[in-house]
Amino acid sequence: MASITTSVGSFSLENPVILASGILDETSGSILRSLRSGAGAVVTKSIGISERKGYSTPVISEVGTGLLNAVGLSNPGIDNFVEEYKSFPEKKKTIVSIFGGNVEEFVTLAGRIEEIGFDKVELNLSCPHVKGVGSEVGQDLDMVEEIVSEIKNRTKLQVWAKLTPNVTDLIALAKASEKADAYTLINTLRATGVEIYSRKFVLSNTIGGYSGPGIKPVALRAVYDVYKETGKSIVGVGGITTWQDAIEFFLLGARAIQIGTALLYEDYSVYSKVNQGIKKYLDDEGFSKLEDIIGAMVAR
Ligand SMILES: Cc1cc2nc3c(=O)[nH]c(=O)nc-3n(C[C@H](O)[C@H](O)[C@H](O)COP(=O)(O)O)c2cc1C
Repeated sequence: MASITTSVGSFSLENPVILASGILDETSGSILRSLRSGAGAVVTKSIGISERKGYSTPVISEVGTGLLNAVGLSNPGIDNFVEEYKSFPEKKKTIVSIFGGNVEEFVTLAGRIEEIGFDKVELNLSCPHVKGVGSEVGQDLDMVEEIVSEIKNRTKLQVWAKLTPNVTDLIALAKASEKADAYTLINTLRATGVEIYSRKFVLSNTIGGYSGPGIKPVALRAVYDVYKETGKSIVGVGGITTWQDAIEFFLLGARAIQIGTALLYEDYSVYSKVNQGIKKYLDDEGFSKLEDIIGAMVAR
């Protein structure tokens, strides 16, 4: 059978299917459950400096083609996270997602997770930026560049820069974060929804993030554009539910993929289903390893 091992930067994975940040990963127990069910790696819910309760309900709303969510970065804060995860057994298969409002916050969080033995961090660059007016951290190119460089200079962590699709020039954003070891593409799309009889927005926060099957074409385009331009390691995420979806991302340059929203509809068997499907596709198409199809459709 074909080999589905892969690598992202210098991280070697037994298989390319990763749990995305923010879905079924709020506790160390739920994270372990994904690993035991066959995920090659997992990303934690994004952790910030202080505990945040998040927005009031409704924070999630289904639309025909996916989900709208505005959870409000609810998280236990770094002190509680360190307490819960300091003796976590699977640190090498876990990428810790962090968010902050400025460079110092990101650097502090990165240092704290390195201290307890994690070696990989995913930067959630899509949280609201307090200095700019209503923009996201990830839209401020100078700040993104500084966050990535400072974490690379001050820690030994492998850095995955998770970029926001809510920009007109994704390549400029990728270039600003080029010191990262890999890109994670994409976070949710800014979106809203309306309930016509109550005449209310479907989310308490009015604006939220759109995820699920409807965003897959946007995520594929982002992977294609960034791979074509940079050739760097990319982790694809956005609307992946089946092995066929995963193959599309590999052909356009992703070296691994993440599954988020699909886990709310499927059960934990989704990891093994996707992995089995990838293996069978490679065998049926005459490839001996996953590596052979990564970026195969992109002329560089
Ligand atoms: C309920 C929910 C919570 C999320 N929380 C986070 C988060 O804390 N940090 C982050 O980087 N992305 C977060 N995301 C975004 C996902 O990691 C992923 O990038 C996005 O949903 C697209 O993938 P999907 O279509 O497979 O869900 C969240 C998504 C959902 C649906």
